Amino acid sequence: MQTRITELLGIEIPIVQAPMGWIARSQLASAVSNAGGLGIIETSSGDMEAIKSEIAAMRTLTKRPFGVNLAQMFIRDPEAMVDFVAENEISFVTTSAGDPSVLVPKIKELGITVFHVVPTMRGAAKAIDAGVDGLLVEGSEGGGFKNADGASTLVLVPEIAERYDVPIIAAGGFVDGRSMAAAFAMGADGIQMGTRMVASVESPIHDNWKNSIVNGTEVDTVLVNRHHRPAMRVWASEKAKALDAANEPGGISVDDMTGTYFGGDMESGFAMSGQVQGRITTVEPVEQILRTTWDDCQAILRTLGASATAASTSK
Ligand SMILES: Cc1cc2nc3c(=O)[nH]c(=O)nc-3n(C[C@H](O)[C@H](O)[C@H](O)COP(=O)(O)O)c2cc1C
Repeated sequence: MQTRITELLGIEIPIVQAPMGWIARSQLASAVSNAGGLGIIETSSGDMEAIKSEIAAMRTLTKRPFGVNLAQMFIRDPEAMVDFVAENEISFVTTSAGDPSVLVPKIKELGITVFHVVPTMRGAAKAIDAGVDGLLVEGSEGGGFKNADGASTLVLVPEIAERYDVPIIAAGGFVDGRSMAAAFAMGADGIQMGTRMVASVESPIHDNWKNSIVNGTEVDTVLVNRHHRPAMRVWASEKAKALDAANEPGGISVDDMTGTYFGGDMESGFAMSGQVQGRITTVEPVEQILRTTWDDCQAILRTLGASATAASTSK
């Protein structure tokens, strides 16, 4: 099965791995690209030297396409990063956490395919005006930085797909064939997985975090900083619950974050995680996640298609 996303990105399986600070590095991203999806290298850690060497490492780890996310708020010199991406012949970029009109025209001029991450209809309109090739539509149930007033994937994706005829990658809540088939029914052409990828064998983060996803239910997340910035959906640690209850703005230091990411201290920083953790019960290799999701999705679509055809011909 081909979709606008497999055709545009030159990949076999229309599953994109989410850009995630420190996590979306070459070990995880190359596993996704080698499995037939699209690996993405992050920039939200702000550690540009490490990111540049991770992009170089991707060239040795995979011959398949991969992309880079430009998280505008976290990059000191975003224009220079666009030049770096072009010099390294990256053909797909997602932009996020900033005004799309700032970088999209330059990225387009350089001949790179660009999608902007949008959490609202208004955000989609701005991205379309900026000239994007497609939209990465992100529902509020997903993990990570969020629009505090955002709508769920089920509302947002069909709303945007009805308005704009551009390729759409849906994000927020995708984990398996069942949810992926729903994405196509809503008008998407592919999906992005964040939380599922955190809990994969190739994800470089501490097992304590992976286990919190495996053991966490769908209600064990908190949207911290919901009345401040940046709002983030995170695993419901005591620290996250206290911050939410106090309704104070909560900052995060790099040391606190890496203490959670690599030290396994779940009360140090915030372990970003989506509600879909309630549907994740095992840590699996990326190849297995992608293959099972895609095979199951196509089987579900075939079954639904056959039922609909049978129903219409029996009338
Ligand atoms: C640990 C983590 C870090 C994230 N960091 C980023 C980021 O740097 N840039 C970005 O555009 N999205 C980021 N996100 C959001 C993801 O790109 C994705 O849209 C979201 O995880 C999808 O929802 P899901 O978690 O239900 O799969 C992050 C998500 C997680 C779980």
